[in-house]
Amino acid sequence: MLTVQTPAKINPVLEVLGKRPDGYHELALVFQAVGFYDQLTFEKKAAGVGLRVEGQAGLAADDSNLIVKAAKLFLREALKSADGVQITLHKKIPLAAGLGGGSSDAAAALRGLQWLFEVPVSEGKMHQMAAQLGSDVNFFLNGGTALGTGRGEIITPWKASVPLWVILVKPSEGLSTPAVYQSGKALMTTGDKILEFQKVWSEGSPASIASRLFNGLEPAAFYLRPELEFIKKRLMTEGALGVLLSGSGPTLFALAAHEMEAKKIASEFEGEGLEVVVTQTVSTGVQKV
Ligand code: C5P
Repeated sequence: MLTVQTPAKINPVLEVLGKRPDGYHELALVFQAVGFYDQLTFEKKAAGVGLRVEGQAGLAADDSNLIVKAAKLFLREALKSADGVQITLHKKIPLAAGLGGGSSDAAAALRGLQWLFEVPVSEGKMHQMAAQLGSDVNFFLNGGTALGTGRGEIITPWKASVPLWVILVKPSEGLSTPAVYQSGKALMTTGDKILEFQKVWSEGSPASIASRLFNGLEPAAFYLRPELEFIKKRLMTEGALGVLLSGSGPTLFALAAHEMEAKKIASEFEGEGLEVVVTQTVSTGVQKV
């Protein structure tokens, strides 16, 4: 039996560069792993893929689940034998939140099976399978901090900066990624924001990093869910260094100067039906525990 943990992510910068002929959007974005994890356990079995979900109502454990798709893909294309696997997912990262939870679980399934069966699979093959499963899956294979280009699946690792204190604020109702991209309200940019961000990232001052946050999907999410803009303004008023929509939302993340400040800001949002998590940036992806 093998247990792994796999993190959520935020995107300190997300630039939409254009629309592609295949219907996807060309992106330049920064992925950053945060210390908020799903846990998966793997056990070999005779044949097939079984999945049990704990801790989250409303997540199907059938073939529509990205973990099942990832495991079947790995067994077919990398293991190439009749062996099977039983997987248990202990879910903490909320669904349809912009935190990459589903993609993180899919990456965990690929790595988990690689480690469980101890098969030599090249990193190129791991990334090729990840890209088939979704645009964000590649990032989670190694996690940490990385630049994503193409659909987001072409990953260039970046050095970690200073550890940052992060407050995640998620309204109870999720937001559909295709709806955000297709709203016609995304802001297109040319890649300049990433370059500006890269400079402050290497300098490592939390306040400078917070001043360069940018997400071209934010106007689209605020158009679809006006209360998000209101929550962002409140987080700034409560003392956040910077606040941004994470991915396609609806989660907002705020950066705080230190732990006490993060906890103080989080406490202002208690009892409002919002999910609020105080965490830190981490330099890992899928990991054995
Ligand atoms: O790749 P993934 O399945 O995660 O993408 C989900 C949806 O998000 C796509 O169907 C598409 O509507 C939108 N998307 C996009 N451009 C990207 C990534 C996602 O338009 N680069």
